[in-house]
Amino acid sequence: MSDLIVAIDGPGGTGKSSVSRELARRAGLPHLDTGAFYRAATLAALEAGVDLDDGDAVTTVVEGSDFSQEEGRMYLDGRDVSDPIREDEITKGVSAVSAHPAVRAHLVELQRSWLRSHEGRGVVEGRDIGSVVFPDATVKVYLDASPEVRARRRAEQSGEDIAEVLEDLNRRDHLDSTRVASPMTVPRGAIVVDTSELDFEAVVEQLIGLLPSES
Ligand code: DC
Repeated sequence: MSDLIVAIDGPGGTGKSSVSRELARRAGLPHLDTGAFYRAATLAALEAGVDLDDGDAVTTVVEGSDFSQEEGRMYLDGRDVSDPIREDEITKGVSAVSAHPAVRAHLVELQRSWLRSHEGRGVVEGRDIGSVVFPDATVKVYLDASPEVRARRRAEQSGEDIAEVLEDLNRRDHLDSTRVASPMTVPRGAIVVDTSELDFEAVVEQLIGLLPSES
């Protein structure tokens, strides 16, 4: 079997996670959610009681922790943290943690080694996959949607107030796209899919159509 990497980047609220999972399932490929690594790193730092803006302290915690992901579950030092990493406190702190270059370097290496241990095949979703983690990915996709549509989708999922969600999305987008280390951008060679007017099935179908026929 040859390598087959599908890199899916884009901001939150585009349906990126559910679309990536479904694409992986239909294509018979393993799936990696790289955002979960940054969330687990944030949890580790909070539990260690370090200041999330202190790059050296956060890096020490992250380098001393064990992160792994299997079958859609995220593990921190062997403990399943899939649910706690979705808490508000983590969502609020994760942009600060993911801005530290040494934290990114460490987690990127873990993501590459995950792929090696899965025979070089997988659907990998995140913010810097096609640009930094796997610049030679077989297929690169950038999912996008208008901020209003993204906020509405998030609010429908979480039951939060749409205006608050929109404010938080804009804040995180700004932090993610202006940080010095691996700012979120459309990777070179990526196909941009605007999901604002598309339903879930239409997006999945479009991505299936991008896969090489051997898969
Ligand atoms: O996709 P998500 O909301 O679970 O991602 C959480 C945060 O992690 C997001 O604010 C940006 C960061 N992230 C990143 O910097 N690089 C990635 N490859 C994935 C996520």
